[in-house]
Amino acid sequence: MSQPIVPKFEDLDIDRLAKLTGKIVVLVPATGTMDVGTRRVNKLMKGTLKNFISRTEFEEMKTGAATTFNAPLGMDASGVVLLKSAARPSVDHLRDLGATAAKAIGHSDVHLLLAKPYKVEELLFGLSLRRYQFTYHKTADDKPYGAVTALTNKPAETAAAYSNLDAVAQGVFFTRDLVNEPANVLTTSDFADRLVALKDLGVTVKVLEEADMEKLGMGSLLSVGHGSKSPTKLVCMEWNGGGDEPPFALVGKGVVFDTGGISLKPGAGMEDMTMDMGGAGVVAGVMKTLALRKAKANIVGIVGLVENMPDALSTRPGDVVKSMKGDTIEVINTDAEGRLVLADALWYCQETYNPTGIIDLATLTGAIIIGLGHDNAGVFSNDDTLSANFLKAADVEQEGAWRMPLGAGYDKLIESRIADIKNVGGRAAGSITAAQFLQRFVKPDMPWIHLDIAGVASVKSETSFAPKGATGWGVKALNRLIADKYEA
Ligand code: BES
Ligand code: ZN
Ligand code: ZN
Repeated sequence: MSQPIVPKFEDLDIDRLAKLTGKIVVLVPATGTMDVGTRRVNKLMKGTLKNFISRTEFEEMKTGAATTFNAPLGMDASGVVLLKSAARPSVDHLRDLGATAAKAIGHSDVHLLLAKPYKVEELLFGLSLRRYQFTYHKTADDKPYGAVTALTNKPAETAAAYSNLDAVAQGVFFTRDLVNEPANVLTTSDFADRLVALKDLGVTVKVLEEADMEKLGMGSLLSVGHGSKSPTKLVCMEWNGGGDEPPFALVGKGVVFDTGGISLKPGAGMEDMTMDMGGAGVVAGVMKTLALRKAKANIVGIVGLVENMPDALSTRPGDVVKSMKGDTIEVINTDAEGRLVLADALWYCQETYNPTGIIDLATLTGAIIIGLGHDNAGVFSNDDTLSANFLKAADVEQEGAWRMPLGAGYDKLIESRIADIKNVGGRAAGSITAAQFLQRFVKPDMPWIHLDIAGVASVKSETSFAPKGATGWGVKALNRLIADKYEA
């Protein structure tokens, strides 16, 4: 697994600055005022920084941007990176500065001069998230990242403040690795093994095998994996840090590869369907974060792991399957398999854990990408309070999320001629009919959110906090929602 940075926290001793190697990062607010560390660097550089700050080049620099002075005379450092910051940086701004620093320093060792009294741990968090790389399958490109040292006036306090954020970064990296991993590596069994390993952190992990699920009547979930050599699994993770209170639940779609099944997808772009386990990946990342930071909350995470392949044994379009709830489903399109996975996972979750609420996550529909693009996930909910709390948490964490409607009117679109319900509604409102299908498997008074993350789980161009590929969208927001709800 790729590991987030492990920063060293040391006292900002300005007499050491001349001899430090690698890159040195200094923060200069838009006002141009240099702090004590920056003044010393400026002196060693014979006034270069001061000269730069006094010119229009500094004035024209965008707040949040970086400029690098390579091979500075008078110092052992390979470069000095000047970050232009806001005078009173917000948490968002500090994280953005960290991400900008990550790009400016590349693979070098780095010392960050963080003399200010603001939350410098947030800058390190942004740097850590942006310094992710997925290189397991590159045999030539194994260049490791250098060390990160934060030089502050209060190293012990900064280190303590950073440790919670590091737990979040580790959860995000876990999710990204899972989502980036190809399907021949991340099979259902391999995925389950990686979740079972969370036991080392104190997570209780239970794996239901096909025989267990048959006994429970999970004909909907099992129908998706009939064509695959990889066994279908339902993995239940419990983090019990909250005493006797009933749990809150997260449920994820874990389709390790989605060919569409007999309703085969077109070839172009099909390789992207390695990310169709993104919902399960986020659930896994959140569980890891909660365990690492020993959250005072009871959270259960359930993921349905399955591969959707065409085969003689595959479910056919037109087949009728029976869910654990007892409702029969006409499978019109075998490519609308995510809802079949979640139907049984949601029902099992409620029957087994009777949670106080459920959030499910799934790369469920292409239609959500048509509606919202790659900046926002679709939020569908039967509970205004839970939904508002989630949207707030997502906003604070800079993870785009936009509420979408539900409504009984859409149910007509998924009425089946021969069964209780059918698994597709047609082109109109494709993401809503999918959510409406899921709602049938949510008990009437259960507070519930469905997050359609098809557009945000993995993207083709880099984002503020990740290179292109898996983003880890949702880990930060869900972690914050849980912290706000149970630990405030
Ligand atoms: N996994 C896909 C949805 C998806 C599309 C995720 C693009 C990520 C990027 C899902 O299983 C699917 O194929 N949905 C169909 C539903 C349709 C058949 C009703 C879709 O969106 O086309
Ligand atoms: Zn599909
Ligand atoms: Zn799918």
